[in-house]
This record gives sequence, structure tokens and C-alpha cells, in this order.
Amino acid sequence: MTLDGAQGAAGRAGGGRPRVLATWDLPAAVERLRPRCDVDVWGERRALPPEALAARVADAEGLLCLLTDRVDAALLARAPRLRAISTVSVGVDHVDLAAATARAIPVGHTPGVLTETTADLTFTLLLAAARRVVEADGLVRSGGWRRWEPDLLLGRDVHGATLGILGLGAIGRAVARRAARGFGMRVLAWSRARGPLGDLDGAVAWAELPELLAASDFVSVHVPLTAATRGLLDAPALARMKAGAILVNTARGGIVDETALAAALREGRLAAAGLDVFEREPVDPASPLLRLPNVVLAPHIGSASVGTRERMARMAADNLLAALAGGRMPACANPEVYR
Ligand code: GLV
Repeated sequence: MTLDGAQGAAGRAGGGRPRVLATWDLPAAVERLRPRCDVDVWGERRALPPEALAARVADAEGLLCLLTDRVDAALLARAPRLRAISTVSVGVDHVDLAAATARAIPVGHTPGVLTETTADLTFTLLLAAARRVVEADGLVRSGGWRRWEPDLLLGRDVHGATLGILGLGAIGRAVARRAARGFGMRVLAWSRARGPLGDLDGAVAWAELPELLAASDFVSVHVPLTAATRGLLDAPALARMKAGAILVNTARGGIVDETALAAALREGRLAAAGLDVFEREPVDPASPLLRLPNVVLAPHIGSASVGTRERMARMAADNLLAALAGGRMPACANPEVYR
């Protein structure tokens, strides 16, 4: 269904305007929803507390949420009228998809529009970790730079190195393109489902996980967080990584064992890490990762460019409008609801 068709039908569905709860005041989404829906917007700049979320979603037909909102079976049980969920994120690990599917509720998400922006941030962290940019910045700012020295802040070469990509979905592929075409890297990839390489044929070689970990100078994580990938990079997997390798994670923190990672970085078994995501977010200020100079940190900003965040908000609104109108969501994470 086209958006115009969806909007028209949304207004007509059930003879009234569907009620939508938006857990953040995202103008690009809310302005799109308002002509067709009654939108209850949580206007504070903090996550809607779980109890308030449950209370406010109780009579909602649509939910526009963020990756910081936990949408689990208990919440769904308190939302008997809910018939569409749309998250402003590509990841859906904060939504109980099985529980939503059991209720035939489609869950929208935002793949595609954030692919290149997230790949850019992945490369930002990879380069910053390899060339010690944050340490260098700190040295200059602190007045500690006394003289040019031939061994000052030596890092690792990115060009010509081997990059191992875990998960060759859209973002993994965009990272692989940058690596192979922009930096002349050898690229290995591991994925549970090996589809055709397409335009990456000749630029990427498939590898088993232990082989990839042992051969890569850089490892970048791009699998979604699921029961199967939680703790994928645990202590034994990290121990298999090449000595002096660099880990980059812009996917989800739960995929990497942070305690084991901090130990590997402290002991110098791994040279550095670039992390945009953490097991707990915001990251615990007491995390040992925050005290290691060889870690470049970011606060989950993979898709955080002005244009991309606006596209994500619009896409999330369109997912919701289509479903509330009785149509198919353009980007649905549980398409089995339509079978
Ligand atoms: C960000 O992490 C997203 O899932 O969109």
C-alpha cells in the first residue's frame, strides 16, 4: 500500500483515529503521525519509565518506540488494543518478537536507511583505534607533547591489513566495501547464512569463525543480538584472535564478553578496541573499559547523523501508519504475521 493510501485508511480504520503512544518526541515521526492518529508523546528527555510505559500503552493501538524501551511479553499483556509496534532502530532485540507474533502484531524497524552511516562510524572507530587518535588528541590538549619523536604513538596500518567481518548483512557489506575498495584490505566474512556475495565477489572470502578470528588484524561485529549470538565473542573466542588484533563493535554490546575483552586489552593480547555499544547502556562508569587508553569509546551513535536519524523517524512513522491502516508494514521484523 502506498503511504497516501495507508494514511487515508489509517484515518478511516474503525471509524476513528487510532491512538498512538510515542516514547520520544521525534518531530519527523510525530508530525507524520498527527494528521492521522491521536498521538500521546512522552515529552521528557529520558526514557519513559517501565511502569509509566505500561500505563500509557494500555489503550494504545500503535507504539512508536526506541531501542531503549523494553517491549516484552509482560508489557504486551498490558496493551490489549495494541496492533502495531514500530521501533526507530534497525535492531529489535529490545522487542519480544515471538510474543508480538503470537498476538499477530507486526513490528516495524528501520533497515537500509542507516546502513552507510553506521558503516562510516564503524570505520571511524577502526581508524581511530588503529592510529590511536584519541590518545593523540589527549596528549596534544594536555600540553604533554614536548617534541616530535620517531616512536611517538605508533599505531597499526589499516591499508593492506586483514579485516574479519562477523555478519555479512547490509552493514557488514557496507563495511566490507569500504575496507576492500577504500583501504585495499583483505576481507574475510563469517555468517550463519551464506548468501551470494554479489558485488563483493572477489573482494570478500567466506571463513569459519575460528579461522577468521585467527587470521584477522581487525575484527568488526555486525551480527544482530539474538539468543544465538549473545556472548559470541566470549573469552575463548577472544583468545583465538590474532595477537595484537583490534576489535570494533557497532552492533550490540551483548555479543562480546566485556570482562574478557577488558582483560585481553589490559594484558596487551589485543592492541585496541573501538566500541559504540555495551552490555549495559549507558555503560557503567566503573567499567574497566573506561580506564584503558587503548579503547576508543562512543555512546551508541552508529546511525547518529542528522539526515539518517530523520530518515529513521520518518520510516518508523510510515511503518506504523501502514499497519494501523490494515496494510503491510514496509519494513517488518516479523513478516510471519502476514502468513
Ligand atoms: C541502532 O543500534 C539500531 O539498531 O538502529
